[in-house]
Amino acid sequence: MVNKFYITTPIYYVNASPHIGHSYTNIAADTLARYYRQRKDFGKDNVWFLTGTDEHGQKIKKAADEAKLNSQEFVDKVVETFKDLWKTLEISNNDFIRTTEERHIKTVQRALEIVYNKGDIYEGKYEGWYCTPCETFWPQTQVVDNLCPDCKRPLGKISESNYFFKLSKYQQWLIDYIKDTANHPERINFIAPLTRRNEVLGFLENNKLEDLCISRPKERLSWGIPLPFSGKHVVYVWFDALINYISAVGEFDGNGVYHSKWWQPDVKVAHLVGKDILRHHAVYWPIMLEALGIRQPDTIFAHGWWMIDQNKMSKSRGNAVSPLDLVKQYGVDTYRYFLLRDVPFGLDGNFSEEAIVKRFNADLANDLGNLLYRTLTMIEKYYQGNIPDLELDKIKFNEAGEKIKKAISTLEQAAYGPIAINFDFSLSLGKIWELINLANKYVEETKPWNLAKENKTEELKSFIRLLVEALRVTARNIYPFMPLTSESIIQQIGEEKIKKGNPLFPRIETKEK
Ligand code: MSP
Repeated sequence: MVNKFYITTPIYYVNASPHIGHSYTNIAADTLARYYRQRKDFGKDNVWFLTGTDEHGQKIKKAADEAKLNSQEFVDKVVETFKDLWKTLEISNNDFIRTTEERHIKTVQRALEIVYNKGDIYEGKYEGWYCTPCETFWPQTQVVDNLCPDCKRPLGKISESNYFFKLSKYQQWLIDYIKDTANHPERINFIAPLTRRNEVLGFLENNKLEDLCISRPKERLSWGIPLPFSGKHVVYVWFDALINYISAVGEFDGNGVYHSKWWQPDVKVAHLVGKDILRHHAVYWPIMLEALGIRQPDTIFAHGWWMIDQNKMSKSRGNAVSPLDLVKQYGVDTYRYFLLRDVPFGLDGNFSEEAIVKRFNADLANDLGNLLYRTLTMIEKYYQGNIPDLELDKIKFNEAGEKIKKAISTLEQAAYGPIAINFDFSLSLGKIWELINLANKYVEETKPWNLAKENKTEELKSFIRLLVEALRVTARNIYPFMPLTSESIIQQIGEEKIKKGNPLFPRIETKEK
């Protein structure tokens, strides 16, 4: 029985401070971690959430040189901006791995020895194209006009002696593994969403995999992990980086067998990545694991990009927006809500502040904030702040009321189904908002102020009791997405007596167009 959940994010390059794109993956992973911790069949101790930083390689070395710091000082400084941001965004990671840590370096070297001794690494000459900003080699077949197929910047041509990992040996194995959904139906989610699975399979079935160059000569790049079987090389940063998913949570023993609580058959292992690093995660990584004799992850989910005016947001393009500025302006939970709600996970999204304000005013201020505020106000006005003490099951409502009662009892399943099955955060939130909207409509139709005037005390009491329940269940269900708002609602409603605070989401005035 699978009752544990291990979730990872990519480890971020520390050549610059984090932007919205980086925070997106961490917020999504955090939401999943919180969701599984809450589940009775998993629970707090059965969830492990890992994030971290990728600190070696040419890109980092160059940034350190530009900052006139030595590489270690530089990474020690920048890593703090990531750690601080995760704290601000309520990211509940259990561990934070840095690739310059001893535990990681040791595991990378051990993994290389194991694969080398197995005969899956050999020495050869590398001649070809290399993109320094992306830290990626490109085969001639994929290069047009000497530009990087990914970032479109000029490639450099290099020729040097290096070590190669036999990806080609495992090509057919990987194709068969991905395709074997007849014996393993759940494997349909091994690479997700489906479009990405098709993309990877298409690539594997139509190209011959070239072996992966996994070393860099020290004379060209010193900032890396020394290759255990060559004094002249350091490890290619991607081979180094991918190992973080095992180095943070386990160890190899003397016989080369890997031990970890989080890579066992009873664990659901999920890697969240951006679509630009899908090839590394869906081709290199499964083959590395197979060569190391470690089980495969259950899912490698590639999300889309946040774009600005049709361009990917990135530091190098100079269009990156700082999460901290947005959080200062709109609050942590608004930021989290916006990213997870506005775009289905997997697709690209257009980022704009107008879009945040629109979501804020419509969904948060008008719908959720208003439902809480008007309910608390009625409890204050009619019952001096005491929540009507009625058993909901025993009350018979009119049709609209019964519909809400039903929505309340089925919300958990409706809301969490989409994230449990395919990480569809937007749909989950949509389901929760269906209940909020039903409840607001119910207030408008019932006109409680008339019930009060006409002394329909029992009806008024039942009506308010139902709203309280709708809010409680909403608060519980938004917890993984918006932990602070969830706690605030639960506190304000209280067990018996309310504690009304300031409005959760005071409307933002915009200039009407
Ligand atoms: N260090 C590698 C990952 C190694 S994982 C073993 C790396 N780092 S990165 O800092 O460049 O990017 C990390 C992640 O941020 C990627 O998943 C990437 O897709 C994501 N994003 C960077 N810009 C993005 C957007 N504009 N939108 C959404 N996510 C994007 O790659």
